[in-house]
Amino acid sequence: MFKDNLFAGQRVLVTGGGTGLGFEMAKQLAALGAEIHLCGRRAGVLDEAAEQLRGGFGATVGTHALDIRSPQAVDEMMERIWTQHGPLDALVNNAAGNFISRTEDLSPNGFHAISDIVFRGTFYATQAAGKRWIAGGRGGSVLSIVVTWVTTGSPFVVPSAMSKAGIDVMTKSLAVEWGPKGIRLNAIAPGVIPTAGATGRLRPGEDNQQDQRGRENPTRRLGTGEDLGRLAAFLLARESSWINGQTITLDGGDALANGAYFTQYQDWGDADWQAARERIQALNAADKAQRGAE
Ligand code: HXC
Repeated sequence: MFKDNLFAGQRVLVTGGGTGLGFEMAKQLAALGAEIHLCGRRAGVLDEAAEQLRGGFGATVGTHALDIRSPQAVDEMMERIWTQHGPLDALVNNAAGNFISRTEDLSPNGFHAISDIVFRGTFYATQAAGKRWIAGGRGGSVLSIVVTWVTTGSPFVVPSAMSKAGIDVMTKSLAVEWGPKGIRLNAIAPGVIPTAGATGRLRPGEDNQQDQRGRENPTRRLGTGEDLGRLAAFLLARESSWINGQTITLDGGDALANGAYFTQYQDWGDADWQAARERIQALNAADKAQRGAE
């Protein structure tokens, strides 16, 4: 679909790029010749992902273990990339955190855990790259991953839905503010593309629901990493320089046909929510153990 080495000589940072959708996009961009930088909270996971990109595509890959909830850590990473490697050409805002919960059950910390990653962390990364592009008098491209619920809304994931809607409007706003400086911002709103992180936290213990969602999709399937990687490469390519401020839905028409996700949880009782919470928190604890001391 793309010419070889479309991204040769270009440097791309993918936040949350060690796993899931971030890694899928990193693979596509590495296959097309980009130098890749991955950031995430688990150093071991990042190292493994980097090895795969080096081995699979001969890519140059840098890794940066940090939590994007820290504006200082984000800025230090950008400074390190700029001084040790060179300016970024593109930033992919992919890092996210989420779990299903009745909104009335969320603690302030629960709200912050999600919104500090998605809403604030995405802003920190975007601003840290943008101000360097502006200071250096060079352009750049930002691609953010949102979800179709920026248009449908979504029950039971309200902190995520609110935060993703904020990113959607950041994309439109900065496309206009920074357009004259050669900086483009676009977003992709994917439908269901199963990953371990999202499935475990959004559909805990209910794998066949995913099959059901696939059957209900107008294309009769769920999304794949390749679907997302291809659209990301298309939007980030320099040849797409007139696409700016857009959020492209990538869901096989699912939101048009079926609307918001998670309406099935309207029938859950206290015991179902308790069981889901236990499963999700076990997953969070396992991830935390891989991050070590914080
Ligand atoms: C209620 C919960 C909870 C749950 C955590 N909390 N899980 N509350 N129900 N199931 C609360 C905790 O009790 C705590 O509040 C607070 O949230 C912080 O919990 P921690 O475990 O300390 O948080 P932390 O280790 O920082 O982890 C962040 C996280 C976690 C967001 C909670 O899920 C994470 O690291 N996720 C990263 C990967 C991920 O989520 N991927 C899916 C992205 S899917 P208290 O008050 O007890 O201190 C996505 C949308 C895709 O973004 C859409 C696809 C269709």
